Amino acid sequence: MATDLDVVAGLLRDVPDFPSPGIRFWDLSALLADGAGLAATTRLLAAHDGPAPEVVVGIEARGFLLGAAVAHSLGVGVVAVRKQGKLPIVAASESYDLEYGSATLELPADVLRPGARALLVDDVLATGGTVAAAAALVEGAGATVAAVSVVLELPALHGRERLDGRPVHALLAR
Ligand code: PRP
Ligand code: MG
Repeated sequence: MATDLDVVAGLLRDVPDFPSPGIRFWDLSALLADGAGLAATTRLLAAHDGPAPEVVVGIEARGFLLGAAVAHSLGVGVVAVRKQGKLPIVAASESYDLEYGSATLELPADVLRPGARALLVDDVLATGGTVAAAAALVEGAGATVAAVSVVLELPALHGRERLDGRPVHALLAR
């Protein structure tokens, strides 16, 4: 019988040269669209080694889908960390460099309780800029990062090194 990890690995797709030449894009669309795939992904992302989270922080955009599923499975709420300009009331902003281009993430005001243990959820850990920025926002609000759960880590891009020892729970590495 296929394990949860087999199911997840079998539904991931990589697309060469997207969004720009030389970038290999990992696409979760087929995984998220599959009921068994989404369930397996949710179970695995929730099964990190850190302390029990009191809230999940989902990072735009695929982290929203995964983060909400993980939060629901854990019985906690979800906070959406968004790209700049989407939130009406912002607690703080954090800019970072991406594998392709740069971006700014924002934390909504008055939703993350100071002292709360947060589980950060995203699809891919590549250079680590995205998760590092989200972690800085969470910690800047006085919360703590219980763990970072991602479906896929790209170890060649050394993302963990930017996370200053925060625990990373990656389901797969490519
Ligand atoms: C991708 C991916 C991760 C991030 C990883 O998101 O979904 O969030 O890049 O890269 P990093 O570790 O090098 O920071 P992207 O910024 O392309 O945007 P999206 O999720 O909104 O599509
Ligand atoms: Mg993203």
